[in-house]
Amino acid sequence: MTLTAQTRTDAAAGPDQAPWWRQAAVYQIYPRSFADSNGDGLGDIPGVTSRADYLAELGVDAVWLSPFYPSELADGGYDVADYRDVDPRLGTLDDFDAMVAALHGRGIRVVVDIVPNHTSDQHAWFQEALAAGRGSAARERYIFREGSGPGGSEPPADWESVFGGPAWERVADGQWYFHNFATEQPDLNWDHPEVRADFVRTLRFWSDRGVDGFRIDVAHMLTKDLTEPLPSRAELDALPFDGKHPLIDRDDVHEIYAEWRRVFNEYDPPRTAVAEAWVDASRIPLYARPESLGQAFNFDLLQADFDAGEFRRVVTDNLVLAAASGSSSTWVLSNHDVVRHATRYGLPALGPDERGRDAVKQGSLWLHSGGLEPQLDREAGLRRARAASMFLLALPGSAYLYQGEELGLHEVAEIPAAERQDPTFYRTAGEEIGRDGCRVPLPWTAEGRSHGFGADGSHLPQPGWFAQYAVDEQERHPDSVLELYRAALRLRAELQTGERLEWVETGRDDVLRFRRPNGWEVVTNFGTEPFALPAGEVVLASGAAVAGVVPGESTVWIRGAHARV
Ligand code: GLC
Repeated sequence: MTLTAQTRTDAAAGPDQAPWWRQAAVYQIYPRSFADSNGDGLGDIPGVTSRADYLAELGVDAVWLSPFYPSELADGGYDVADYRDVDPRLGTLDDFDAMVAALHGRGIRVVVDIVPNHTSDQHAWFQEALAAGRGSAARERYIFREGSGPGGSEPPADWESVFGGPAWERVADGQWYFHNFATEQPDLNWDHPEVRADFVRTLRFWSDRGVDGFRIDVAHMLTKDLTEPLPSRAELDALPFDGKHPLIDRDDVHEIYAEWRRVFNEYDPPRTAVAEAWVDASRIPLYARPESLGQAFNFDLLQADFDAGEFRRVVTDNLVLAAASGSSSTWVLSNHDVVRHATRYGLPALGPDERGRDAVKQGSLWLHSGGLEPQLDREAGLRRARAASMFLLALPGSAYLYQGEELGLHEVAEIPAAERQDPTFYRTAGEEIGRDGCRVPLPWTAEGRSHGFGADGSHLPQPGWFAQYAVDEQERHPDSVLELYRAALRLRAELQTGERLEWVETGRDDVLRFRRPNGWEVVTNFGTEPFALPAGEVVLASGAAVAGVVPGESTVWIRGAHARV
């Protein structure tokens, strides 16, 4: 038996004093695809309120709402036109307050998404910058430059946007502006004091309305060093990510978060924040420190294959990293940017060079496998997803769940090109399939219009097979994915007594077994050969119950066979 990880605070503070977020189950809502209260095909804020009982029954501690702000939807709402309002198609600020009250009334906390790297091109500041012209103060809030080449007709640099295509766009008077993402998402100039002050105002605005925490979009990209001459794309690509890269994960971004932390700590309880930072694991603690955002996503599990060795390494490494930062770890298998994990696990495994961010994002899996359907084993994918999710929910730290994973939803591949929304799809001429397949509105009922989502149609089309995954259908089956998640989340409260985990050697390289401080044990069999069940009472099983064994590709939770550790 080896002790591999222990967080600092576990020893310092008893579990009862631990802040709520350290071991929370946080459920991500993509509002436009959750529940539609007014039948216009777009999910909305009153739709979330109408499902507050569902969320309470599911047993989550918090919800995180992807952006619901006014937006022209060039990037699913991550192009924000006004940070301190609700998109009129999604409701009003009063609706937002009612939603917070309904969730708080059920003991569910509320986390909202803050998108500080860029605004929408419809934002008042950008419109003002366009109107005010070159050299104006209004342009200083963004990143405007003269072009290169004859008459400035070429972009200032040959950089590529994250979504494909050029990262510089020319405006009518001939200047160019920088956008890391879509053309409609101009990057802000974070050297500008007004930009800094305005985001502080936004954080206070939502905190004052009772919001409990924030998810910070692309937290690693805000600050830039755009000293001229600008490097070429090839030069940029050759630079290390050591805190001095001109565009990514710069050390000076932490001045911003130190200021935000002071704001969060003005509130009681302090507001929380979690960084979305796709950075090297060694630099995650910078974002997760208590004097910074306090927590950061680790996407390692999401990028791992369904493989015992990989899962063990990821868990061990991340518990050590989290402990080093003073934060708790975060675990994620799915979100609105990646292929759903039931589908990932049902596809042929990728080679080591093909794995990682690109494979899970932007649909590269399809390209790898030459199309989804002929390759996909839906049942195996779901079986493994159930096992992996129950493994995740038993880990110390916060579990971030994405709407629909509690239904075992698969990715929707069959979206006609004309109905796709993701800018990635358009900016790569369809070479990247994009992220629409995990953003299709949820099926609440097997029958009825838009499977109970609420409209005659929905903004992304639901496939016929959604019926069998519907909430009402699963409620009729005690062994459904939904009932499994509900049971696990109920039991989790008992499980998360301390932030420790101890591996117990199994003698098999395809079986993981660990013990939590309350003496509970968790066994995940990643292989196909059954594994002998350890002593104790089985309180949860992701697969079929077979006497005396943990069946292949399944997880069991075992209560109290051992004294507290
Ligand atoms: C983040 C979001 C993603 C969005 C991008 C630009 O990665 O999760 O959905 O497209 O930032 O805002």
